[in-house]
Amino acid sequence: MSKKLIIEDLEKIYKAEVETIAVRDFNLSVKEGEIVTLAGPSGSGKTTILLCIAGLLEPTYGKIIVNDKLINSFSFEELIGYRRHTIGIVFQSFNLIEYFTVFENIAFPLWIAQKKHKEINRRVGTLLEALDIGRYAQTYPRFLSGGEQQRIAIAVALANEPDIILADEPTGNLDRKTADIVINLLMKEAIEENKILILGTHDERIAEKSEKVVSLQKRF
Ligand SMILES: Nc1ncnc2c1ncn2[C@@H]1O[C@H](COP(=O)(O)OP(=O)(O)OP(=O)(O)O)[C@@H](O)[C@H]1O
Ligand SMILES: [Mg+2]
Repeated sequence: MSKKLIIEDLEKIYKAEVETIAVRDFNLSVKEGEIVTLAGPSGSGKTTILLCIAGLLEPTYGKIIVNDKLINSFSFEELIGYRRHTIGIVFQSFNLIEYFTVFENIAFPLWIAQKKHKEINRRVGTLLEALDIGRYAQTYPRFLSGGEQQRIAIAVALANEPDIILADEPTGNLDRKTADIVINLLMKEAIEENKILILGTHDERIAEKSEKVVSLQKRF
């Protein structure tokens, strides 16, 4: 089955002290091998959209359809399975587990998915090599630079071979050269492995590299 993501009329209103319309009337259709950049200033809703796609945030209105399934209507168990197997997410803050080594961080999603020991070692080994972080396998994330931690966060997101990779400001803290390496890696993975890649960023240089750019505006 080919992978696809359709978003129809997505709306997210946060109801805190003040009501914020973070996203309204957002539509998107993406198929496998496609790279989409959500571009827009701070507060324009990039993270909100990515979290809704990841099933980590419930939309106020609208539909998110992934591989012909409406994720809004998923049960709790279905949502867990969806997050575990279909989605890989690189968070704006790396979200690495500080008490785990680099190897354990990358292996963690595979343990959760109850993969076999041999398979875990193989997959983690492949990722360590592909992202050129093999020498840090037994190191803890806090000893590594921002660029190195970002590459580990990417390895964690790719570990389960997800259909959809979501990357929120993946180059936020990186210098130009490292940013290019990180973006090229993500794009290569999407194209070669036929995945959907959605990037949230305000870096115009990333937007230039991606074939489809959706510009978001601040709504208030
Ligand atoms: N949990 C929350 N509760 C209340 N308001 C929120 C919450 N999360 C986000 N918002 C608001 O929603 C709007 C969109 O936020 P979001 O984080 O999606 O923007 P963004 O485009 O990712 O911004 P940035 O580039 O700074 O990461 C902002 O005005 C923000 O203050
Ligand atoms: Mg954000």
